[in-house]
Amino acid sequence: MGILIWGFPKGFEMAGQKFQLGYLDFQEVLKLCSLYVIIKENLSEFMKTFYITTAIDYPSSKPHLGHAYEKICADALARWHRLLGEQVFFQTGTDEHGTKIQRKAKEAGKDPQNFVDEMVVYFEELCKKLDISNDKFIRTTSKEHVKVAQEIFKKLHDKGDIYLGEYSGWYCADCETFYTEKDLVDGNCPTHGKKADWIKEESYFFKMSSYQKQVLEHLEKNKESVLPSGRRKEIVNRVKQGLNDLSVSRVNVNWGVPVPINPKHTQYVWMDALLNYYSGVKEKDLEKFWPANVHVIGKDILWHHTAIWYSILIAAGIKLPKTVFAHGFINTEAGDKMSKSKGTVIDPIEIASGYGVDAIRYFLLREVPFGQDGNFSIEALKTRINNELANELGNLVNRTIVMLEKYCGGKIPKGETDSALQKQLKLDKIKDRMEKLEMHFALAEIFAFISACNKFINDKAPWKLEGKEREKVLYSLADSIRVISILIAPFMPGTSKKINSQLSIKDGKLADCKFNLLKSETKVERGEILFKKTE
Ligand code: MSP
Repeated sequence: MGILIWGFPKGFEMAGQKFQLGYLDFQEVLKLCSLYVIIKENLSEFMKTFYITTAIDYPSSKPHLGHAYEKICADALARWHRLLGEQVFFQTGTDEHGTKIQRKAKEAGKDPQNFVDEMVVYFEELCKKLDISNDKFIRTTSKEHVKVAQEIFKKLHDKGDIYLGEYSGWYCADCETFYTEKDLVDGNCPTHGKKADWIKEESYFFKMSSYQKQVLEHLEKNKESVLPSGRRKEIVNRVKQGLNDLSVSRVNVNWGVPVPINPKHTQYVWMDALLNYYSGVKEKDLEKFWPANVHVIGKDILWHHTAIWYSILIAAGIKLPKTVFAHGFINTEAGDKMSKSKGTVIDPIEIASGYGVDAIRYFLLREVPFGQDGNFSIEALKTRINNELANELGNLVNRTIVMLEKYCGGKIPKGETDSALQKQLKLDKIKDRMEKLEMHFALAEIFAFISACNKFINDKAPWKLEGKEREKVLYSLADSIRVISILIAPFMPGTSKKINSQLSIKDGKLADCKFNLLKSETKVERGEILFKKTE
């Protein structure tokens, strides 16, 4: 019994195997099938892409810890997907037009372009300082972005989705958002608590109301369209109440993208900013990366990223993103919003300089369940540095390297990792948590393994052992640290590099999180202490 291969009269060769014309016996069919599976798996791995973005910040004042938090979260996810071997594109940037920037520039006595050129430096520096691995930093004043923003505006106008009318209503320049009378709280913006401005002017409108049904359908059908799931329910309920047509141009704001069909108007800043996600990849990577896998944004701008963004995309005939993830807010120790006027703004550069970049990255990712609000306090930061980073991770690495130097001449001995210790690593759980964007739980699992390694040292007491027995324990520890270093890399990239350098190994991939891959005879060298305890 066999299978006839059609279409190959002379037979064919694949991966060194010859398949002849005629009937293949079962063995050959099996070979062919397994080759097909291997090739398919490698191909899909190679082709898997991941496009992740953060919101783009208003460079109206220096970035605060909330801005830093969003970038750190998105960065950890981007790095995790690189670890999986995917092709990642990670974009962040600045939202540089609109009333808020125009006013701030005026207050500073500067031309808006000069003002944003000066301010953007703080945001770019923040990315560098925090080890943010963005592939692109987009600015909405860049020519390439302005071109795309205008193209989309024109496209919607030409298909009859944008019409000229008159807008009258309330506007908050801080969030660049229109409000109705009933949205306001005592006449103030519900988000910023500041007095809203009354606006009455000629404006272009986008027929957002026409897209209510499709937006709702998308949100209801796609359970992962908005995460965490509670946020999706909130938005579904709001969209059910109806979508109003949206004012998408301003005649009294000149700091903006000129409306292509009527340069007397500038595009409404959200009708410009949201398009950054598309313009950022439009030129060369659209096919490869669109639609985005995750837009990481704060909970305050979820409406803009669902109702408004989805309507624009549907109208323009562009695919919708897979997930919009709304994270919570980082508040002060007392649980209050960071506020410039109250002097409660937390400077991320200052904290990172004082306590270390990886410490602050770890703290934010571990302390604040992704999706919920969290308070920042120096006390809580110090507790995590002292306990988890210094006592657990730092100590494990330091003790192991010191013992390798003392007992093995600074080289990895021959051995196999203790099988009971191997079982303490719950890799599937870690992967599952990351898949569900539960980074705080993934970190808890990784640190449970770190604790298990420390317990392993205490239980085995290698200083009391000799010969092969001691070598096996030390091999187990070094090999486990190699795996730990891979797993912490998305969260603490600098620390992972330091560990790798002490073990003389290269950065690994998730596929290398198997035991016994550490080669014997590899040189180890003690480095500076990873985390210093702090008073
Ligand atoms: N420019 C708009 C976003 C346009 S996206 C097409 C904007 N800018 S912002 O500077 O006000 O905020 C940028 C991001 O930082 C938003 O996702 C916002 O939710 C987030 N955060 C601002 N303050 C925050 C905290 N205190 N905590 C966590 N994130 C917060 O909105």
